[in-house]
Amino acid sequence: MSGFSATWLALREPHDARARNTEVLAAVTASFKQHHAIHITDLACGTGSTMRALNPLLAVRQEWRLVDNDTSLLSKAGARSSLQRVVATAMALDLNRSLDAALQSPVDLVTASALLDLVSETWLKHLVAMLAARSIPFYAALSYDGRIELTPFDPCDAAIIAAVNAHQRTDKGFGPALGPAAANFAVTHFQSHGYSLVHGNSDWLIGSDDGEMQLEVLLRWASAAADTGMLTVADTDAWLTRRQGAVAARLSSMRVGHVDVFAAPIRTR
Ligand SMILES: C[S@@+](CC[C@H](N)C(=O)[O-])C[C@H]1O[C@@H](n2cnc3c(N)ncnc32)[C@H](O)[C@@H]1O
Repeated sequence: MSGFSATWLALREPHDARARNTEVLAAVTASFKQHHAIHITDLACGTGSTMRALNPLLAVRQEWRLVDNDTSLLSKAGARSSLQRVVATAMALDLNRSLDAALQSPVDLVTASALLDLVSETWLKHLVAMLAARSIPFYAALSYDGRIELTPFDPCDAAIIAAVNAHQRTDKGFGPALGPAAANFAVTHFQSHGYSLVHGNSDWLIGSDDGEMQLEVLLRWASAAADTGMLTVADTDAWLTRRQGAVAARLSSMRVGHVDVFAAPIRTR
């Protein structure tokens, strides 16, 4: 399963859906209670998981603009018959180069899931400035925050986690990535632009029954750790083998820290 393949996004979607912070979701939906229709732009939509998560919670007509630079994911991201009150339009765009085009009017809400940890400080500042200039609210879910707890304990866990977190800060196409610092940075920066914030954890809790998800996450971490060169290949491989053994024996579970954020302009539009 490579990078952001549809297979990987489908595997993680139910875990994301369970993890989404309900207080943050409630704040998003409360802000649009008075509306009859809203225009939502979802940045880096993948196959549309944010739309699927928010759709049943928003009791209004929704026009979704789904933006991604991966046309294969976008082709799977259209509105499905299970969605209610939705018109969805796909927009193929490199958000690093053409953020302005993604935000062209009309936009009542901008959303993103599992994006902020990929972007740079410069890019996020630019996004915040553009949204603040037009008093547009922003919902960003599932930003990885650097916390990983693994059961059972393995002596190599701490070194692997440190390497994963170092890898998170490398360039993912937007300049040096914010990685685990992304959600905090977003909160502070939106506050400095006069926004009110609701934020909270949205951790993945992956139990011993979720072997496929665990194995995929472990492979991704081992590959990221190997890329950093912070551990020997032998140590990384041995750690992965022990962890895969624990998953096979149904002894393994993991918590992976994420944060959800809803930033609402204090001034009404
Ligand atoms: C971790 S996935 C999240 C997808 C989706 N939001 C979800 O939660 O399932 C990151 C997404 O960012 C998109 N992406 C990465 N770099 C991008 C860029 N420069 N412009 C637009 N989309 C980008 C990828 O194609 C991928 O769909």
